[in-house]
Amino acid sequence: MNSEEKRESVKENYDLVAKQYGKDFGTYIEDLDIYKAFEKELPKGATILDLGAGTGRTYAYFSKRGYNYIGLDFSPEMKKEAFRIHGEFPYVLDDMMNVKKYFKYNSIDAVFAVYSLFHLSLDDFKKVLSNIHDILRDGGIFLFSHQLGSGEEFTDEPYLGEKGKNMLYMSYQTDDEIESVLKPLKFVEIYRKNKIETHDTAINRDNATTAYRIVRKVE
Ligand SMILES: C[S@@+](CC[C@H](N)C(=O)[O-])C[C@H]1O[C@@H](n2cnc3c(N)ncnc32)[C@H](O)[C@@H]1O
Repeated sequence: MNSEEKRESVKENYDLVAKQYGKDFGTYIEDLDIYKAFEKELPKGATILDLGAGTGRTYAYFSKRGYNYIGLDFSPEMKKEAFRIHGEFPYVLDDMMNVKKYFKYNSIDAVFAVYSLFHLSLDDFKKVLSNIHDILRDGGIFLFSHQLGSGEEFTDEPYLGEKGKNMLYMSYQTDDEIESVLKPLKFVEIYRKNKIETHDTAINRDNATTAYRIVRKVE
């Protein structure tokens, strides 16, 4: 499977689980401390782009606090579920590989990408990070999560039981791999936290460690 086919399979997966995902995570914020660490770095009324916006929990959090929130996701069913739960809000329906089609160089204050970039192959991940760097303004911040490990696999989709065996494409990165992507882009790390996944519906919950990082664009 090439990178595009991997992404296509991820989109199909989320179309299938959107209703259940919305029920469990449409409004539930599980990592409030990380949201707050991100918010601390934001200018008043900042424009936040959420890559892999899913069913809108991040929209609910930031729009209430006066930020200019824009979601992006390629799953039509996740978008539909987000609008059903929260009402309509700015939401680009496309692959995040195409983010530069929608946003100009140096135009966004902050990018948020939690539990989404782990569905990109390492090559795609590098391209997306470079594009994020381009659209962020100087001094802008970027929060993302990744799963610690190495290589890639098709893992079980927790919502689909037997039908979801070996279905969901996942990519893992070591700290060294992440740092080798961040460094040439001159992203400077300002926050870091590791979290062991224990939730029943977490992807790869056994032994999975999610790393969260907030980095700043410096010229
Ligand atoms: C596990 S969900 C997380 C959703 C949301 N960030 C949250 O925390 O609730 C992953 C989301 O990323 C989206 N996604 C994955 N790869 C994507 C891509 N290449 N372009 C756009 N969206 C993508 C999926 O459609 C799905 O909605």
